[in-house]
Amino acid sequence: MRVILLGCPGAGKGTQAKLIAERYKIPQISTGEILRSAIKNGTELGKKVKAIMDEGHLVSDDIVIELVKERIQQPDCKNGFLLDGFPRTVIQAEALQQQTSIDQVIDIDVPEDEIIRRITGRRIHPASGRTYHVLYQPPKIADTDDITGEALIQRSDDSEETVRKRLAIYETQTAPLKHYYQHLKSTDQSEQGLVYTKINGIGSVDEIKNQIFSALEHGQKELSHAKNH
Ligand code: AP5
Repeated sequence: MRVILLGCPGAGKGTQAKLIAERYKIPQISTGEILRSAIKNGTELGKKVKAIMDEGHLVSDDIVIELVKERIQQPDCKNGFLLDGFPRTVIQAEALQQQTSIDQVIDIDVPEDEIIRRITGRRIHPASGRTYHVLYQPPKIADTDDITGEALIQRSDDSEETVRKRLAIYETQTAPLKHYYQHLKSTDQSEQGLVYTKINGIGSVDEIKNQIFSALEHGQKELSHAKNH
């Protein structure tokens, strides 16, 4: 199962990605988390991308394409993977398509005013990437990770001003991917077919999760039916 999670910043990709990865036993590959971990560890890559990410801009295609190319060749991706935050431009999508085929694209749709509420209230546990929200998904103890008891932080790119910039970049650079994958599906250029499903991202985390799980089950059936005919 090779799945892409599309959706604007704060749509709930990271939240749902963890649940999908657990259920289908496939690794979650979040380019945002890989880059944040490089920054935290002070690597050359981290130094290169910190200012760009803090500003809410996209890191260059070359950097992320190379990261993902290497990551999906790892043995744990043999039975599939879940991409969260990649691809984000048509150039990235084309590079991915050259390397592997994708089975399903899940596109989580959430309106802008809700996004601002979600992102400005978000808190994260940096070591694991676990995500909370001060109102919608609060930790048991304020500002503390439920599992490790460590402190939660607010991401440096989660201010309202930066979120608005990220949303604008999403509209111009990433939203065209919806058409890219719908076109790929209709022309069946992907070798084994592709299922694209749009999900209404308003609702509880559980409600969205159930919608996504049922879309994925349905999609897998559709693909296997197409393969056998
Ligand atoms: P990245 O880390 O990918 O950030 P993003 O796409 O902007 O997405 P977010 O992590 O902000 O949101 P999310 O959709 O995962 O939402 P979440 O589940 O946390 O990228 C960060 C940066 O890295 C980019 O700006 C760029 O610089 C760089 N980058 C990464 N990939 C790149 C690429 N491919 N190319 C170039 N640059 C790249 O949920 C948000 C909040 O809402 C949380 O608090 C959560 O608790 C809450 N919430 C979730 N679901 C619900 C719900 N159903 N109801 C109520 N609240 C909810």
